[in-house]
Amino acid sequence: MDKFRIIGPTPLQGDVHTSGAKNSALPVLAACLLTSEPVILHRIPRVRDIGTMRRLLQHNGAAITERDDGALTVHTPEVTQPEAPYDLVKTMRASSLVLGPLVARAGRARVSLPGGCAIGARPIGMHVTGLEQLGARMEQSHGYIEATVPDRLRGCLYTFDRITVTGTEDLLMAAVLAEGETILENAAREPEVVDVAELLIKMGARIEGAGTSTIRIQGVARLHGAEHTIIPDRIEAGTFAAAAALTGGDIRIHHCRPEHLSAFLAKLRTAGVDVREEGSTLHVKAARRLSSVDVDTQEHPGFATDLQAQFMAVMTQAEGISLITERIFENRFMHVLELARMGANIRVEGQRAIIAGPRRLTGAQVIASDLRASASLVIAANAAEGETIIDRVYHIDRGYEKIEEKLRGLGARIERIEAK
Ligand code: EPU
Repeated sequence: MDKFRIIGPTPLQGDVHTSGAKNSALPVLAACLLTSEPVILHRIPRVRDIGTMRRLLQHNGAAITERDDGALTVHTPEVTQPEAPYDLVKTMRASSLVLGPLVARAGRARVSLPGGCAIGARPIGMHVTGLEQLGARMEQSHGYIEATVPDRLRGCLYTFDRITVTGTEDLLMAAVLAEGETILENAAREPEVVDVAELLIKMGARIEGAGTSTIRIQGVARLHGAEHTIIPDRIEAGTFAAAAALTGGDIRIHHCRPEHLSAFLAKLRTAGVDVREEGSTLHVKAARRLSSVDVDTQEHPGFATDLQAQFMAVMTQAEGISLITERIFENRFMHVLELARMGANIRVEGQRAIIAGPRRLTGAQVIASDLRASASLVIAANAAEGETIIDRVYHIDRGYEKIEEKLRGLGARIERIEAK
């Protein structure tokens, strides 16, 4: 398994460009299964999870070609195999995003249950009950969910018990081809949901209210091809902003949508960081002294759980006590022990982490345990004195495009040690 060697401390400085959003690209790729015509997609990031999704679509019958300018064309004249096998789902839970599109287009789908995941149980119960409401027959056997629909899905009113991002996207993609009207209540309001809805509208879907808690869909009989550009990755932008704040740096993050990060940026500002929004550029300059701030993760537009680990790394350098409460996932503090190995003073009590700062960080051997935990270790390593070795960086490769190259461009001393 590859490792990173990072020598710090380095105040990260300079310019960086974000990539397209991984969590938008995943459902957008799945949406391509809904039409027999080609869909052209720009700014799909080259990260491991996207490679997995591409393999899954090809397994379902899609032909995917890449143009010289990097755009992808996804063309599925016919769904040949409406299945998401265990081997793919076990490495990427978001594979369940093909469930809705496959049932809507092919009338049946067989998708492996995701099983346990490092950041919590992460069930897909609402995808299943939602599709049932839309008229699909759902059965579970041999570790797979099987969905069949005799004729066509029919519109319904579905209220999510709790907010789910991929659940909202999955049901939205199913409902666009259902007969009649579907109303999704208590829907996720994440920018990635809006992005998928925008592609679907370009494909001929009739959707209102994406980005609010109530989404109304008037089903249509068929969808056509379209061309779409994925939104910038707000979590990547937030990770670089945290890196600037933590390392005493000064970074201009280009090609981002600061309005997608408002809650996070507000917390950075409260901590004393100089954050300026200059159109699609975010200019983040570290504070001479950081103050501690409390954070509760929430669904959008609240503070994103996907930035909790990175913000915690920043808080290790803030004066005073910071309380960080994780409200979305029950097991998302795996970075705590690793940050502690680097000198941080953090105690966990249930869903809450208590960080006392500032504490000097020193390089150590640490293990990346999930995507965002890895990102927090990478930025902490740039603030720590001496050498940090981060093991299992395949986690970071799942979601950050060219991370070493981008960090090197900001002055980081980072190298990848490839597994023999
Ligand atoms: N949940 C249920 N039942 C369901 C679905 C979800 O109980 O049927 C629970 C989950 O267990 C969790 C909560 O609802 O406690 C929210 O989960 P959600 O379904 O919203 O998460 P997700 O859709 O699986 C997406 C992102 C995650 C991000 C979360 C929360 C994608 C591909 N993944 O996951 O991104 O953390 O929303 O914002 O969009 C990451 O990129 O590192 C990542 C984990």
